[in-house]
Amino acid sequence: MCKPVIKWVGGKRQLLNELKKYMPKNFNTYFEPFIGGGALFFDLKIKKSFINDYNSELTNLYEIIKNKPNELIKDLEKHQNNSEYFYKTRELDRTPEKYKRLSKVKKASRFIYLNKTGFNGLYRVNRSGQFNVPFGKYKNPNYADSDNILACSELLHDTTILNGDFEIIKKHIQKGDFVYFDPPYVPLNETSSFTGYTDKGFDEDMQFRLKELCDYINSIGAYFMLSNSYTKYIENLYKEYNLITVQANRALNCKATGRGKINEYIVINYEINKEK
Ligand SMILES: C[S@@+](CC[C@H](N)C(=O)[O-])C[C@H]1O[C@@H](n2cnc3c(N)ncnc32)[C@H](O)[C@@H]1O
Repeated sequence: MCKPVIKWVGGKRQLLNELKKYMPKNFNTYFEPFIGGGALFFDLKIKKSFINDYNSELTNLYEIIKNKPNELIKDLEKHQNNSEYFYKTRELDRTPEKYKRLSKVKKASRFIYLNKTGFNGLYRVNRSGQFNVPFGKYKNPNYADSDNILACSELLHDTTILNGDFEIIKKHIQKGDFVYFDPPYVPLNETSSFTGYTDKGFDEDMQFRLKELCDYINSIGAYFMLSNSYTKYIENLYKEYNLITVQANRALNCKATGRGKINEYIVINYEINKEK
């Protein structure tokens, strides 16, 4: 029993049933190169997997959960839920020399603490890569969920954790493997893009590079499933593949007024439920 350790913008919890419906029924190794909070990965619980993210704070967290869960739990229990302590902890990355000296366990512990006690459970950094979410004023944030950390540690035991640009997975993919891509989305309009995942954005060149990786995966007889926004750009870019429209809740950052659902695309390179 393990669930995502952190809350992440663009997290796929609400789309899990759709994603599971459209993924291939059989495959060898599982890859998720934009892991974020890992909603699908932690739900599927496939042991033989490769996960990756460009955000090194995040991949350090998964490394520590995998290799030093007990040290992490011990450190998490030391935190305090008050605004003075929150801002003191948040500020640690404002002095790079000081931050560099923190142990990897302390960095992972700070990451979970800020995610659970910060406003809306967000992770967001400014252009200098500094965490900039305000204190959330929650009564009982559960930042030291030891049972879940131990369960996730066991799952991660057979997982290879990579840190870099998504193309890092290319050399590991073989025929019959399955890759789920959940990249930063192509913006619906100029004001709707969320770029705070890393200090770098995700521009059109990167979307294009991602499409080329999908072509490569297709050419070697492996499977891919990709989530992205319901835009003409994605429709054109992936026109030779199967595009499925699904409905999701509006994104946190979406400026559009009103509640309700919004369309998204899932792109796959196989027939639904009929693998190559
Ligand atoms: C939409 S989120 C993934 C959300 C995830 N599916 C979940 O359930 O939480 C996109 C992720 O891509 C990562 N990212 C951004 N640019 C990247 C790149 N060039 N290579 C790999 N990961 C990148 C971000 O750090 C972020 O975690």
